[in-house]
Amino acid sequence: MARAQVFGEVAELYDAARPGYADALVAEVLAYAALGGRAALEVGAGTGKASVPFAALGTPLVCVEPDSRMAEVLRRNTVRYPGVRVEHGGFEEWRSGGRRFGLLLAATSWHWVDPERRWDLAHDALVPGGAVALFWNPQGVRDAELHAALAEVDQRHGIVGAPHAEMASTYGDVPGNWAGVPGWPEEECRRDGRFTDLRAVRFRQERRYDTGRYLGYLASLSRYRVLPPDLREQVLAETARVLEAHGGGIDTEHFSDLFLARVR
Ligand SMILES: C[S@@+](CC[C@H](N)C(=O)[O-])C[C@H]1O[C@@H](n2cnc3c(N)ncnc32)[C@H](O)[C@@H]1O
Repeated sequence: MARAQVFGEVAELYDAARPGYADALVAEVLAYAALGGRAALEVGAGTGKASVPFAALGTPLVCVEPDSRMAEVLRRNTVRYPGVRVEHGGFEEWRSGGRRFGLLLAATSWHWVDPERRWDLAHDALVPGGAVALFWNPQGVRDAELHAALAEVDQRHGIVGAPHAEMASTYGDVPGNWAGVPGWPEEECRRDGRFTDLRAVRFRQERRYDTGRYLGYLASLSRYRVLPPDLREQVLAETARVLEAHGGGIDTEHFSDLFLARVR
């Protein structure tokens, strides 16, 4: 199964276990976009982790989501907001039908869109001056001993890029670890040349997960979903033992990294 399509098999778990986005991030995006009543387009809306806070502030939204199981939860989560419309399909196949938007949002999803086409698609969906807001929630572990113990489990099983792979202290204040890739998507957007006013903002939030909640979060991540089920169970069980031996949970720092740009 393609890695981008693994979320739907755990749509309810995803919805329960994944963190949302900081209120301050939503406010920053809306201030930058200055929509003035125009609608926003959300790419890869999933179950609505970002859609709901934008809709709750009155933003009219068209949410594009290719996985029908994610879209079902998204419809349920946004049912009370009449300004939200869910459209089924990948962004690459989506048809605007002549609509142009004041803002394109992608929350933890831009990396799934075809790298050859994503900036063309964004450009074509937006009005002149329309904003792009791409964001992710990378995080780091606060306790060095716990970090080392989790790294030992991951190394033994060949797990690369777990959310606890980095210490919070290694992040610093400068955004630029978008989806774990330094300089992306800023450099890619700059090279495209059709966007201006590029900005990067980092929001920090401390968060504690108890063991059960953290395991649910891990199980919702694509890098764990693509593991053979037996291996996934083993890694999660060993991770649980480590967390239980370190106080029954994990203290993390979430860095909501926001990238902004607008069409020239
Ligand atoms: C990690 S989830 C993020 C969901 C949600 N935005 C959030 O922040 O929780 C990635 C989402 O992107 C969707 N996706 C994958 N490929 C896509 C594509 N080509 N176009 C649009 N969405 C895509 C997946 O179905 C999934 O719902």
